[in-house]
Amino acid sequence: MIPLRSLILSASIAALAVFSNAVPTPTEFASIEPTPTAGHEPTSTATTEPNPGNPATPTDTCGLLSSINPTELKYQHVVDCYNAIPFDSAQATTTLATVLTLFKDYYVFTDAALARTAPEPFANAPYDIVGELERIGRSKYTSDYKFHRDILAAVTGLGDGHAAYSISCYESFFFTQDLSLYAPVVDGEQSVRVYLDSAKRGYEDCIVETINGENALSYLQAYARDIYGTSHDPNARLNFMLASQTYDTASGLFTDTPGDFSQRSTVPQGPYLDYRLKCANSTDTVKLREEWRILPQIETAFTDAASYVANVCIAPPEVVAPPAEGGLLRRRDEPVRRITKRAKPEPTPPSTGPQFPSADLLVIGNATIFYHLKDQPTIGVLVCHTFLPSDVEAEKNVILAGLTAFHVHNVTNILVDFQGNTGGSIDLSSFLVQMLFPNKGPLDAAFPSDMRVSKPMQELAKLSYNNSDYGYFNARDFINLSNGTAVYENNDLFDKPVTLNRNGRRNLWTEKTSLNFPPVAAKYMTAVASFPWTAKAENIRILTDGRCGSACGMASYFWTALHNVPAYAIGGTHGEDLSMFSFAGASVLKLSELQGFYKSANLTSPLTDLPYKNTITFSWLEMYGHGRTTPLEYDAELYRPKHRLGFTPENARSREVMWKEVAATAWK
Ligand SMILES: *[C@@H]1O[C@H](CO)[C@@H](O)[C@H](O)[C@H]1NC(C)=O
Ligand SMILES: *[C@@H]1O[C@H](CO)[C@@H](O)[C@H](O)[C@H]1NC(C)=O
Ligand SMILES: *[C@@H]1O[C@H](CO)[C@@H](O)[C@H](O)[C@H]1NC(C)=O
Ligand SMILES: *[C@@H]1O[C@H](CO)[C@@H](O)[C@H](O)[C@H]1NC(C)=O
Ligand SMILES: *[C@@H]1O[C@H](CO)[C@@H](O)[C@H](O)[C@H]1NC(C)=O
Ligand SMILES: *[C@@H]1O[C@H](CO)[C@@H](O)[C@H](O)[C@H]1NC(C)=O
Ligand SMILES: *[C@@H]1O[C@H](CO)[C@@H](O)[C@H](O)[C@H]1NC(C)=O
Repeated sequence: MIPLRSLILSASIAALAVFSNAVPTPTEFASIEPTPTAGHEPTSTATTEPNPGNPATPTDTCGLLSSINPTELKYQHVVDCYNAIPFDSAQATTTLATVLTLFKDYYVFTDAALARTAPEPFANAPYDIVGELERIGRSKYTSDYKFHRDILAAVTGLGDGHAAYSISCYESFFFTQDLSLYAPVVDGEQSVRVYLDSAKRGYEDCIVETINGENALSYLQAYARDIYGTSHDPNARLNFMLASQTYDTASGLFTDTPGDFSQRSTVPQGPYLDYRLKCANSTDTVKLREEWRILPQIETAFTDAASYVANVCIAPPEVVAPPAEGGLLRRRDEPVRRITKRAKPEPTPPSTGPQFPSADLLVIGNATIFYHLKDQPTIGVLVCHTFLPSDVEAEKNVILAGLTAFHVHNVTNILVDFQGNTGGSIDLSSFLVQMLFPNKGPLDAAFPSDMRVSKPMQELAKLSYNNSDYGYFNARDFINLSNGTAVYENNDLFDKPVTLNRNGRRNLWTEKTSLNFPPVAAKYMTAVASFPWTAKAENIRILTDGRCGSACGMASYFWTALHNVPAYAIGGTHGEDLSMFSFAGASVLKLSELQGFYKSANLTSPLTDLPYKNTITFSWLEMYGHGRTTPLEYDAELYRPKHRLGFTPENARSREVMWKEVAATAWK
């Protein structure tokens, strides 16, 4: 297999990109599952007679998959191998037990998810993750693939971008379309159009009238509503699914990315998509049947289903790593979602000059970039495309240098572009918040928070209290909100939980607390005090497409809800609301990290390690808006932007055009 690591944006990411949210549901798969060669019953094909005379002849569908030149791989090759993985009931029982315990006793939104249907911009109905998983436990499976797919669908149903169930076994091949799509508004009308045709047939901006015979916009909206996860807002989901420009740190350019509809880690419904296009140069329509192309994401060798299971699926022996150094706040909180580059990586056109002729690049960091608009010299654009730079402290200095450069250039108004920022360090997020709105009180940029409490978690917390190496359930890292800004000086936070009834379920919770953010150093606060925009909402705007998650959502919340900064939300469905941010209300942990905490404390975790290699993530600490009673994750009102914008063929392909458009309406 040819490793396609280069397809993955960030070098720091392991070989497998997590596309955790382009998730199949049982309904989507019901029709495709039985294939002509490998039926629902995996064993029938997994045991095709080997050919002893010719060792090069593959022995089963996984052998076939490994023997084919990657460029000739088809949808069916992958599906047939996945279907050939034998169902192992012991493995399934362990897996389900662990996932069930995780979502019952550790996941922080299990009860909140049962809430009544939320107001706009959300559209989440009450969701019972425990019930869904128990239903899987009662179902009879013969297909390992279907079993894992059903768990994935159950987790995806939460609509929480922090909750992911990713099993290497079934996400080792990506599926990609040559056409990537977007939904611009032209003359007040929204239609789906081709954003990019990577097969270079020139279909860009042809209107996509239908997908699989259905109205294209309705088709995508249904996919956003029923299949895709990541957010409680179906219009934010739509933006995640569609093509967009994303900042690429390697090239230093905004590059086209296909979106999660046109590039997936999970198996699509069928081997191709049918499109009917209407192009400007012709009255005829163009009918296209576009097969999914396959992008292998693994370099592991295998020769048949058995070795695929052994080498690709099964977890290697666990290496017990101590928890991230430096404690919770300095942890580089990985966003759950990953964005991969365009399927057929074309070399980015050699940059023959600045990407944006009328925006001067002033300062460039690894998470933030500072542009100055030439035609509107009072306006600076602060692009913050991630909160996950390699060095958070270094990036803080970049931010100071960028703001200082704005000041030197006589900038008075700042547009913060948060599009495509799916989070990272909450320390950096809190820092950025305070660089524009310095704290008046020490906890201004902190969230009231709480955690689920269970017996095994209390055991861990008790040991953690005297040893910070045991992970994040350590009372010393949390502020006693009844005692100023002091942290707990005993373990009562976890030892004396309160019982809360949420949506009919009673569970133990910590009292409200807050993470202990270090104060921003004086050198920063002194510098920003002289900037003309500091603490002035009228001089600051946010631009977002809802693809602003986790730490990005947290910063957006503070600026919009507490400081009244107006936000412009772009994309989604014309005429409908759109969230400013997604999955903002929690902190995320990996199952493997939680297991690591237990191991380092020499405690037996109530969760058995999964037999399969996995990336399972969950929200463990929930946050609240100041003075709010619903967790921020579910507090729909706080997600509504003041202003809406639509994509156009021009602004979707040039941030410069988009910035000027916002600037023109924001500061007349
Ligand atoms: C219209 O443009 C498309 C894409 O460039 C091209 O493939 C097609 O041949 C053109 N049709 C006509 C009638 O010019
Ligand atoms: C940005 O990343 C590059 C490459 O990893 C590194 O050399 C540089 O020091 C980083 N800059 C900052 C400000 O962290
Ligand atoms: C900023 O404004 C000052 C005072 O008007 C002026 O002297 C200076 O040249 C301006 N700087 C830039 C970079 O335009
Ligand atoms: C932590 O250590 C101190 C001193 O040994 C001890 O008094 C205290 O009970 C310990 N706390 C917990 C929660 O175990
Ligand atoms: C928190 O602080 C309050 C006020 O000082 C105090 O009464 C309470 O015992 C503290 N809680 C814990 C768990 O230490
Ligand atoms: C409250 O915080 C102070 C430090 O600010 C500490 O000395 C005191 O013990 C704390 N009180 C309680 C009850 O935790
Ligand atoms: C955990 O167990 C190992 C092996 O038994 C031992 O070396 C280590 O000191 C123990 N650690 C703690 C924190 O008890």
